[in-house]
Amino acid sequence: RPGWPGLIRAYADRIELPEGAKVVTLHEGGTPLVASDYLSDVTGNTVYVKVEGANPTGSFKDRGMTVAMTYALASGIKAVICASTGNTSASAAAYAAKAGLTAAVLVPRGKIALGKLAQAVMHGARILQIDGNFDDCLELASKTAAEFPITLVNSVNPVRLIGQKTAAWEICDVLGRAPDVHCLPVGNAGNITAYWRGYSDYARDGVIGATPRMFGFQAAGSAPLVHGEPVANPETIATAIRVGSPASWTGAVAAKDESGGLFEAVTDEKILEAYRALARHDGIFVEPASATSVAGLLATSADGRLPQGSVVVCTVTGHGLKDPDTALSTVTEVEPVPVDPNAVATALELA
Ligand code: F0G
Repeated sequence: RPGWPGLIRAYADRIELPEGAKVVTLHEGGTPLVASDYLSDVTGNTVYVKVEGANPTGSFKDRGMTVAMTYALASGIKAVICASTGNTSASAAAYAAKAGLTAAVLVPRGKIALGKLAQAVMHGARILQIDGNFDDCLELASKTAAEFPITLVNSVNPVRLIGQKTAAWEICDVLGRAPDVHCLPVGNAGNITAYWRGYSDYARDGVIGATPRMFGFQAAGSAPLVHGEPVANPETIATAIRVGSPASWTGAVAAKDESGGLFEAVTDEKILEAYRALARHDGIFVEPASATSVAGLLATSADGRLPQGSVVVCTVTGHGLKDPDTALSTVTEVEPVPVDPNAVATALELA
């Protein structure tokens, strides 16, 4: 994507900025929409994967962060704060560094994938760890931002979702239509809310003729939207979506109801299966939370809720390198081999 200017400039006609704002960008967005032969074959649909790990910090959070940080800088504030399961903190740290602002991130102790922590460290964020989960972190960050001169850059900040709508616009711009079904992993529920608003914008303006059904998938141990009530102690291997009380609850329910979609839970086992399948068959390495959309696609296609012959987009939200521990815990050992071509050939059963 040579010349891609970042999503604020790419969609300048649709994204309003404060007067005289200096755009804070790492040229996020414009991510690949990859046709998946594997998922298309297995499900009998035409399946595309929107690879959000290709964003500058390796997750879709950059879409919201470029807009949130542009607004924060224009406001004259000196510091931003967020709660995070890891990706928001990595993105906030990077964009704050670019903007020359101080970033503070509140994270749940021991539940952050290693790569995400490394990013926050490298970008110079203040990393504050609490004994509590993401929901506790978000409450604390919100209260702090309400009382002190620091701007909250979680997706409860409405401008975050304006940036995240661009992923839906990009998909329509590339396909020349909206998909029939859009599958997403759901945690704090900002992203499914943003995608639905993005599709709705394009439908209102006549850019697309029909909107997709929104399928939101949660990890079974962390599925408040599926159960219809908050989960006090959410648990899942997909730490990015370990959220018990989603902030954008009403936005997510609107996305599901207005689109004729669904919420469904998938087990950690199915998430890991999809995680491995996507890496092995499609060459796309995502983090476990991202594979939730693929696990959900496979489940709803197997039980007939997803009509065959559909055009489907699965958003895979974050890069696999974010969470090397989970990747390495699932593979066979690395094989030692002598420095000898014959030994290599023997090991590979070529000779
Ligand atoms: N996938 C990944 C990789 C995420 O990091 C998140 C959210 C989601 C999916 C869910 O998106 O919250 O908009 O429903 N991560 C947040 C964070 C909670 O702190 O990075 P959502």
